[in-house]
Amino acid sequence: MTRCSRMRYLSAPAFLLLGVLLMLFLYARPNNVSEPKIFNSTTQIVFLQKEEDIFSQEEPLPPKCEQNMMAAKIPGFPFFSPQIQNFLSYRHCRGFPMILDLPHKCGRHHEPEDIFLLLVIKTLPKNYERREVLRKTWAKERMHNGKWIRTIFITGTDGSGFEKKRMNKLLALEHKQYNDILQWDFNESFFNLTLKQILFLEWKNRRCRHVRFLLNGDDDVFAHTENMVEYLQGLEDNDGSKHLFVGHVIKNAFPVRTRGSKYYIPPQIHRKVAYPPYCGGGGYLLSGYTASVIYNMSKSIQIFPIDDVYMGMCLAAAKLEIEPHVGVKTLGWYIPSANLDKYNPCYMKELLLIHKFSPAEIVIMWHEVHNLKLRCGRTKQTW
Ligand SMILES: *[C@@H]1O[C@H](CO)[C@@H](O)[C@H](O)[C@H]1NC(C)=O
Ligand SMILES: *[C@@H]1O[C@H](CO)[C@@H](O)[C@H](O)[C@H]1NC(C)=O
Ligand SMILES: *[C@@H]1O[C@H](CO)[C@@H](O)[C@H](O)[C@H]1NC(C)=O
Ligand SMILES: *[C@@H]1O[C@H](CO)[C@@H](O)[C@H](O)[C@H]1NC(C)=O
Ligand SMILES: *[C@@H]1O[C@H](CO)[C@@H](O)[C@H](O)[C@H]1NC(C)=O
Repeated sequence: MTRCSRMRYLSAPAFLLLGVLLMLFLYARPNNVSEPKIFNSTTQIVFLQKEEDIFSQEEPLPPKCEQNMMAAKIPGFPFFSPQIQNFLSYRHCRGFPMILDLPHKCGRHHEPEDIFLLLVIKTLPKNYERREVLRKTWAKERMHNGKWIRTIFITGTDGSGFEKKRMNKLLALEHKQYNDILQWDFNESFFNLTLKQILFLEWKNRRCRHVRFLLNGDDDVFAHTENMVEYLQGLEDNDGSKHLFVGHVIKNAFPVRTRGSKYYIPPQIHRKVAYPPYCGGGGYLLSGYTASVIYNMSKSIQIFPIDDVYMGMCLAAAKLEIEPHVGVKTLGWYIPSANLDKYNPCYMKELLLIHKFSPAEIVIMWHEVHNLKLRCGRTKQTW
């Protein structure tokens, strides 16, 4: 009340002066963090690992992306599934506010941490058990052969209303405990996976420029991350500054034109007949350099809903080759005889990655491949 009554005595010139001072203050603030100038207007405060960081990390909020009404004019639009209609109406949107950020995951601005292999794992808010198991097994943050392995889960949001809030709360709790989640405020869906990938690449470009190699993968694979480090260490150029993109190479794939398929892509989304070569999205390895090239290319390539194909499109546009690795099995694996146990750890010893594993199978396999008593003998792999 006293404050109100005092206000009455402030004259108009005083208000003017206050306004000018406020503006000067706002404009004079140093603003080193605003690298990509795609954001403007108000600011958001994202959850951070330490309280001291809260005020040093205000990020500009991207403008809300509106539905593209012109999409409804695309021939055949009314006959598409809601998923495809949604995709076409929002495919231009690339800026989404962050809910959970990891500003110091890769060290501070002036002292970047030397991360050799960054595990970037696509997850959904509801996949809590998978994340817990990965943190205890192949995605555990640790040093192997003198090289740092670090982990980041990337996600959007699940559901709406209370459900969305509850899931966001869960992620915030995990984030506080483990410091390993990046979350953006967009609806998770199969057709938004490319969006998630681009948002991550933009983040990496800003916060994690010096990381040498990345594993980009799903949360339902078994990745032999120690074999990966050793494989990458054995490369001629192993500092991440040269092109590298390896995985399970898929060539001569065609868009699925069967309505009703999860992968159905109408010609209105992709006219060309064949896809460029790409690596199965279950998991592939790339260098920091290549991640940066893909990010640069993505700025001028329209979003295509299938994320691993989109990576292939960006690489083709940059005229970069992809390389097969026999140790990556993103379509599962084939064991020649029904008498053989397909979860025999001896199959795993020389592999890099296999799709698809349940949390329980991951725990068992992780234990087995580290069993020092494991004797594999002469099991030449035949698949
Ligand atoms: C912002 O930039 C100035 C000058 O370039 C520098 O002195 C300061 O430490 C930077 N602040 C942050 C938070 O990086
Ligand atoms: C913010 O960006 C949007 C779109 O990029 C633009 O329409 C708007 O005018 C900008 N606002 C300000 C205050 O610069
Ligand atoms: C996200 O999905 C929910 C339903 O799951 C829907 O209510 C909401 O409108 C969607 N948000 C956007 C921005 O499309
Ligand atoms: C992708 O996320 C945006 C933002 O939440 C949403 O509006 C859109 O419907 C989603 N796209 C699909 C295909 O689900
Ligand atoms: C990506 O683009 C930026 C800005 O144009 C440039 O500085 C950088 O060298 C590019 N990165 C690569 C790997 O080409």
